[in-house]
Amino acid sequence: MANGTAASMEQLAGETLRSNTTIRDSINNIVDELKSAQSELTGVRPARADRKIEYDQLLADASEVRGRGLYYPYVGSGIGNGPLVELADGSVKFDMISGIGVQFFGHSDPDLVGVALEGAMADTVMQGNLQMNEEAIRFAEALVAQASRSSKLKHAFLCNSGAMANENALKVAFQKHSPASRVIAFQDCFMGRTWTMAQIGDSAAGRVGLPLNAMVDYMPFYDAAAAKRLSAGDVSGETRYIDMCLWHLEQYINRYPKQHACFIFELVQGEGGFRTAPRAFHKALMEVCKANEIAVWADEVQTFGRTDQMFAFETLELGDYINLCTVGKMTQVCAALYTADYNPKPGLLSGTFLGSSVGLRVGHRIIERLRDGDYYGENGSNARHHKLFRDGIRAIAVKHPEWFPQNDRILDIVDGCGGMMRFTPFGGKKDPIVNLCRTLYDEGVITFYCGHDPYHVRMLPPLGVMREDQWAPVFEVVERAMAKQAAQL
Ligand SMILES: Cc1ncc(COP(=O)(O)O)c(C=O)c1O
Repeated sequence: MANGTAASMEQLAGETLRSNTTIRDSINNIVDELKSAQSELTGVRPARADRKIEYDQLLADASEVRGRGLYYPYVGSGIGNGPLVELADGSVKFDMISGIGVQFFGHSDPDLVGVALEGAMADTVMQGNLQMNEEAIRFAEALVAQASRSSKLKHAFLCNSGAMANENALKVAFQKHSPASRVIAFQDCFMGRTWTMAQIGDSAAGRVGLPLNAMVDYMPFYDAAAAKRLSAGDVSGETRYIDMCLWHLEQYINRYPKQHACFIFELVQGEGGFRTAPRAFHKALMEVCKANEIAVWADEVQTFGRTDQMFAFETLELGDYINLCTVGKMTQVCAALYTADYNPKPGLLSGTFLGSSVGLRVGHRIIERLRDGDYYGENGSNARHHKLFRDGIRAIAVKHPEWFPQNDRILDIVDGCGGMMRFTPFGGKKDPIVNLCRTLYDEGVITFYCGHDPYHVRMLPPLGVMREDQWAPVFEVVERAMAKQAAQL
């Protein structure tokens, strides 16, 4: 028997391995070494001249093998420290987009690295629907336990991307409401990049050259600026806007009776521009869906974990209406969740892989940390960080109002919710916003853009590990980059 093994004869070999104290000590040693290596990453620093040739070659290799260059010249060195990440050119940047929402716990989180090392001891790298280990069951249970606190969601089917989770949810909706063959989605929604999701997603560029066979009816998303313009007399603009949308929805239902399988709700639009909507808007539409037997599906691939509760449907108190929900990104392993009455017939859902052993372990730990941490509620850290973000942008706007020209499509220069943050300089025009993101990158803060006219700079920061005092150095870079971009206009 190996040294340090705390096994009894009754244990299975797998249990013996998992409780091996030598392995546990080794993992602790590795994590301690990691902590010491990452402790030198304390702030933004420029690329190193002596790495330029090697780094340029890496970027050229990436272009060659991919057939196109990288959007940002980003290749990580493999280590970071919370929101800070070291690149292979020696630069250190604040990662305020975290892999488009994946790295809520930042880079090289010691706890997650320790869990990943345990996961790496599994007999297989990938787990599948035919053969899985306990991790897959525990991950799905943890997700369902959180989702079912305020909804009737009961089952989770795991897979490897948000788009695939959406494909699965779509099949579940179609099977349940067969022969209905149409879907309802919001204008500007994004659902992923499979053929069907590219068709439902409301972006012309995402489906260039693709034949179209999905039948989609688009609804307006809530537009606070338009609602404001509609307000007249005693009736609020919000009420008028909602009435207009209900009229729109009823037209579709009357035009195609019993032909809609589902209405896909991105409760806070992600790629569409971090647009929020009042509860009353979603509730009114969901009630029409219920009355017409149309499945209500919350696509939470981007919102999960980031609003003021773990699920956006909880934040908006809409759990009673939800039949289907998809999650991904920060969960590491993606999932379609559904209520018992949407549980599909055997044969509809499967797939070789459901996730990697490391992803399942780490994803489970992330759900536990979200559950047990101080992220949610009115004064939770998501809300506190969001306020700091808004205050920081407003302080820049007070100093430089000329960087934030308003127009009737921009109701506010900052918006979003919790860990979904956007600001809208330069009148929301695409070119200066995209260029600003590039300048921000060069200066040491990684962001991305979102929206479709107006465009916005967006952040999905690693709020799980970001300290409140780290906003000051981020805003220093933001102001410097904006000054550079404004000078070019
Ligand atoms: C709302 C939403 N749904 C689905 C997806 C697709 O996820 P994935 O890129 O993992 O396929 C995304 C990705 O950004 C998303 O934001």
